[in-house]
Amino acid sequence: MPAVLDWSHNVYYQRLLLRHLPRPCRRVLDVGCGTGAFAARLAERVDQVDAVDRSERMIEQARRHTPHNVTCVLADVLVDPLPGKDYDAIVSITALHHLPLADALEVLAAALRPGGVLAAVVLPRVDLRREWPVEIIAMVGHRLLGVIFLANRLLRGTDPFAKERHVDTGMPVVMDPPLTTRQAARVAAGVLPGARVRRLLFWRYLLVWEKPILHDNNPAAAAPTSPTLDARSQVSASCLADVTARARTDRHARTSERGTHANGSPPWARPGGGRASVDPGGALGRPR
Ligand SMILES: C[S@@+](CC[C@H](N)C(=O)[O-])C[C@H]1O[C@@H](n2cnc3c(N)ncnc32)[C@H](O)[C@@H]1O
Repeated sequence: MPAVLDWSHNVYYQRLLLRHLPRPCRRVLDVGCGTGAFAARLAERVDQVDAVDRSERMIEQARRHTPHNVTCVLADVLVDPLPGKDYDAIVSITALHHLPLADALEVLAAALRPGGVLAAVVLPRVDLRREWPVEIIAMVGHRLLGVIFLANRLLRGTDPFAKERHVDTGMPVVMDPPLTTRQAARVAAGVLPGARVRRLLFWRYLLVWEKPILHDNNPAAAAPTSPTLDARSQVSASCLADVTARARTDRHARTSERGTHANGSPPWARPGGGRASVDPGGALGRPR
């Protein structure tokens, strides 16, 4: 395909992630921010963006391209401490397939406030056997949109999805992602019960999880902090023991290479962890 018809799927899906920001949303973490294009866009909507990348070259560029309310931090999210906690939202575009997914989800879930949202667009491994119809539509759609975007560029001088505007040739990329969308959905369901994963047309999948709010016995503490929180997320503390046990079982069942947590359950589901969360959806969507 001629390069002139090419366009950026990462930029294309920025708007999708913006639609998943919760309300209120003041502080957001962008994981694997690259040159900072999405962080800059987020900064127009929220008070503070922490943009993290483990590539020095990317962070240098992100610092140049982002406004004052974006803090660009050189860090590996699985190794270094995150710059903040209790984020209203954690977002990521085409970075989570660089990491062991289960480990990344655990770390990021722990950094969300109850009611906060994790929303990521991720590169899946091609699953031709199951997804060949989608692949064909994607190839045709990619070219069609390429023509429309080129026409816009020629006639109106605008092309918000132009690759060269956002992609640096030195950007770290992984061309051989480890998980298909179905596999990613299974991993996500094991770590974050209630997570939704779906294939997007243009060679990405979307993962969304809203961190549940734990009700304890004090009704005052049960008040939701997010107006968008739905009833499914409002659960009683009595479920916690069950969920913690299930999380522990899942954790042992997974073949994660990373070390286990002290009690075998994810940090956000630990009793006494301060922000324990539970799965109101029960075993639905769990790996069998
Ligand atoms: C394909 S780029 C995407 C960049 C940007 N999100 C975008 O939409 O253009 C993936 C980025 O994730 C970063 N990355 C990969 N693993 C990371 C980790 N463990 N911690 C922080 N950043 C990571 C890489 O350095 C790279 O800049």
